[in-house]
Amino acid sequence: MIRSNLLSVLGLIFLGLIVAYLYHNPSVQKLPMRPPTPQTTAIIIGSGLAGLSAASELIAKNIPVLLLERGTKPGGNSIKASSGINGAPTKYQSTVDEMFYADTVASAGRAMESSTAQRSALIATLTQESKRAIDWLVEEKGVNLSKIALLGGHNVARTHRGAGGPPPGWAIISALLSSLKESPLFQLQTSCTVTRLLRSQVHSSQGVTGVEYICASKDVEGDEHGERKLLHGPVIVAAGGFAGDALPAGILARYRPELACYPSTNEPRPSPVHLLADVGAQLVDMQHVQVHPTGFVDPDVPSSRLKILAAEVLRGEGGILLRDGQRFVNELDTRESVSRAITQWSAEREDPRQWDVKVVLDEGSYVAAKSHADFYISKGLMKKTTIAELGPGVLDTIQRYARVVRGEEDDVFRRKQFANWGLQEPEGDSVVYVGSVTPVVHFTMGGALISERAEVLGKEGEAVEGLWAAGEVTGGVHGENRLGGSSLLECVVFGRIAGKGCAEYIGSRST
Ligand SMILES: Cc1cc2nc3c(=O)[nH]c(=O)nc-3n(C[C@H](O)[C@H](O)[C@H](O)COP(=O)(O)OP(=O)(O)OC[C@H]3O[C@@H](n4cnc5c(N)ncnc54)[C@H](O)[C@@H]3O)c2cc1C
Ligand SMILES: *[C@@H]1O[C@H](CO)[C@@H](O)[C@H](O)[C@H]1NC(C)=O
Repeated sequence: MIRSNLLSVLGLIFLGLIVAYLYHNPSVQKLPMRPPTPQTTAIIIGSGLAGLSAASELIAKNIPVLLLERGTKPGGNSIKASSGINGAPTKYQSTVDEMFYADTVASAGRAMESSTAQRSALIATLTQESKRAIDWLVEEKGVNLSKIALLGGHNVARTHRGAGGPPPGWAIISALLSSLKESPLFQLQTSCTVTRLLRSQVHSSQGVTGVEYICASKDVEGDEHGERKLLHGPVIVAAGGFAGDALPAGILARYRPELACYPSTNEPRPSPVHLLADVGAQLVDMQHVQVHPTGFVDPDVPSSRLKILAAEVLRGEGGILLRDGQRFVNELDTRESVSRAITQWSAEREDPRQWDVKVVLDEGSYVAAKSHADFYISKGLMKKTTIAELGPGVLDTIQRYARVVRGEEDDVFRRKQFANWGLQEPEGDSVVYVGSVTPVVHFTMGGALISERAEVLGKEGEAVEGLWAAGEVTGGVHGENRLGGSSLLECVVFGRIAGKGCAEYIGSRST
């Protein structure tokens, strides 16, 4: 009895000693149930809107992010976006909008006939999440998106941008970047190109486990050197489209040979889709490419592959297109048919492949499109001149157009709207504004098929483990034709979904 009491007292003392020891020795006290693993870093490829949206969600969940960007500056093509971002229903719209899904399906066209269920799910996610995407940008990131426009193919005005202030691409990218830079968990490395996705050697699932990348660095003599590195972690590919990959051996020419050597509104750069194809991603809609009929040919650098878009508003406000001094098309026809009307002729230049077309505005259309036109004039892409300066035949052409505008003659090209064209009696010395334009590759609908959870899908429709994608590098969201304003939207919607999915994946593996 006494003995057993003594034993239990000794036992208690012993236990107390252990507890006291553990309590006072921090290294032992913190000993976890399993060996400590450093917090996994999420790897994002590309610093356009899709990459920054994904990064924002990961950082919000306290996951470290390494964002690798090939360019010297962040922002990609996203930073150039000028029309705006779609969303419905939002408080800025004045009409009830229940047609976004239907408009998107209509624009996707016959592409809806294949992978129908997957495409419907993507479009449903894109449109249903659009209101939340706008709210997130406005309320959490402080972007002004209070102005609404109606773009082609939309039945309701739903494309948002700021009232005054910087263009929407710039405004959104700078807001996300500055908020990300507040976090010590966010790391952006520019001049670093991802060259390969690493795959699991162990698991038969062939999941993605990291990236191989090369960062350019300059030595004391200023020569560029590449340092090849490996980094392990789950990967989000947000590397953009392939409109700028137009060399004869490039991706664009592989799927659309007739578009080889076309100039583009996108930075000239090799396409990133091989990264995804190499790990078994299913590529869809690669042949669907948006060609814009009017990119400016800069008279100072006519051979530049990169062109600035001559916005539709120039034609929309009354402007006309001339070739050899003649009109040749209803300038307000679809982008596709205006482009076709130009490219049916043989090109004036083969590399880059260019046609010689003039866009001409009278004083009235110029005033209506002033904010755009003045920017183009300041860049030397348009100039103020007179009809006589445009060469023989142009006065005739413009006089006939003026008769059509006055309603005295039907237009042979069936144009019905002339907006703000005001020149009633054109003379040789009448003032006009002119620029040279040519068709440009603007957007690529195709890319890696993703699920509505932004997982990259393999050939059998299975999700590739450890890999997500968002933005223009993906396919399936737009089908045959993207609606204006929906690409910025897909970056935000699927970028955020990818970020959340990746955060959950990291969380599930560290518990
Ligand atoms: C002039 C212009 C105006 C536009 N206006 C609008 C508009 O008003 N509304 C709209 O919705 N859409 C618009 N678009 C389309 C839209 O901007 C793009 O589709 C969208 O921004 C694509 O975003 P992203 O994040 O997918 O790719 P991007 O913004 O292009 O970013 C991709 C980034 O990935 C980097 N990258 C690529 N490969 C690698 C690699 N291997 N390693 C490291 N980094 C890599 C690139 O350098 C780039 O910075 C416009 C496009 C242009 C060109
Ligand atoms: C957006 O900018 C306009 C013009 O400056 C301003 O009137 C409006 O209140 C702004 N909206 C928001 C939500 O800040």
